[in-house]
Amino acid sequence: MQVKGLPEKKVFEELESRLRGDFTYNSGRIIGSMCTVPNPLAKKVYSRFLDKNLGDPGLFPAAVEIERETMKMLGTILSNPEASGHIVTGGTEANVLALWAARALAKKTNPEVVVPASAHCSFDKAGDLLGIKIVKARLNERFQVDVASVKKALNSKTIALVGMAGTTALGVVDPIDDLSELALEKNLYLHVDAAFGGFVLPFLRDLGYNVPSFDFAVRRVCSITVDPHKMGLAPIPAGGIVFRNESFGKAVSWGISYLSGGETEQTTLVGTRSGASAIAVWAVMKHLGREGYRKIVRKCMHLTAKLTEEIPKIRGLSVVTEPTMNVVGLKSDAFDIRRIAEELRLRKWAISLFPHHIRIVLMPHIQEKHVDEFLQDLNKITNKLIG
Ligand SMILES: Cc1ncc(COP(=O)(O)O)c(C=O)c1O
Repeated sequence: MQVKGLPEKKVFEELESRLRGDFTYNSGRIIGSMCTVPNPLAKKVYSRFLDKNLGDPGLFPAAVEIERETMKMLGTILSNPEASGHIVTGGTEANVLALWAARALAKKTNPEVVVPASAHCSFDKAGDLLGIKIVKARLNERFQVDVASVKKALNSKTIALVGMAGTTALGVVDPIDDLSELALEKNLYLHVDAAFGGFVLPFLRDLGYNVPSFDFAVRRVCSITVDPHKMGLAPIPAGGIVFRNESFGKAVSWGISYLSGGETEQTTLVGTRSGASAIAVWAVMKHLGREGYRKIVRKCMHLTAKLTEEIPKIRGLSVVTEPTMNVVGLKSDAFDIRRIAEELRLRKWAISLFPHHIRIVLMPHIQEKHVDEFLQDLNKITNKLIG
């Protein structure tokens, strides 16, 4: 670090110039990410309340109340206004917290959790951190978890089941009802990872889509991960761990005595944590309302339908499965998918590559013209590969 500080103008000049090399959402080239431009009001709110620390609730009781209300709002879109929980750093931390609570409640040695083969890698991280064996269940031909395979994976050490409501690779929803029946029968914790789907499925349902049960309306669902920094349009970091009621979160409660706001109980992994994140989620949800999110989801689904319709018209390309939400899997029986990904990247498309397909996520920053440009490039690429 230099001895003499730089004036604000210089710092900004340098940052503007240094960060120019990054991709931007507004260019439309980020077509494989589950993040997007935060809502402008949420950005303003976030920067105004940066000093709020939810880790020291005695100092910021009003911010704590806003977080509590935010969790109720999230609970409401997930069919449970009694929900509680926290705004955390993201889906990874939310999934860690869910398994932490499940482990604490079960009190078993050498615990195991059965997750779908499609589960996000955060469950592997959680397993490693918490000393839980993560057992992967097979998928069926529709890329949902095969409940028979989940059943087979159970044993006396199993403490929890996980279902996905919007898989990372394809946006598929697992049969949460069936997982719930199984969890009830075996007295297991059931966690649903709706990190992406949690801000899509409720609004798809409003729009008249046939949405399978995935939330707290399903009896055994104990907790849900839902990330406002994905389709919720909140600034990063904002993940959500939503518990059915307070008792679940309390399973991982720690007494902290030294804080300047006084003694407290923390039910999160981290101590000092962003109040601004929770307040910004509150603000964007209040500001957009159900109607606002519905409109956003409607537009994303319109572009999803367009892309899904156009892809098979390009020689050698097809979609992996009919999309449930605004996630499209692009595959090819004629070309090596990595070659197509490489060519797309050369043309500055930030796509997401899975072993057998390319994932396209039609986030709110994607416009119709971006989809058209993307399709034109796909055409050019396949023509080039055909030679
Ligand atoms: C279904 C699912 N769960 C969890 C996560 C992890 O979220 P984060 O990257 O915010 O930690 C992701 C990330 O895309 C995801 O798709």
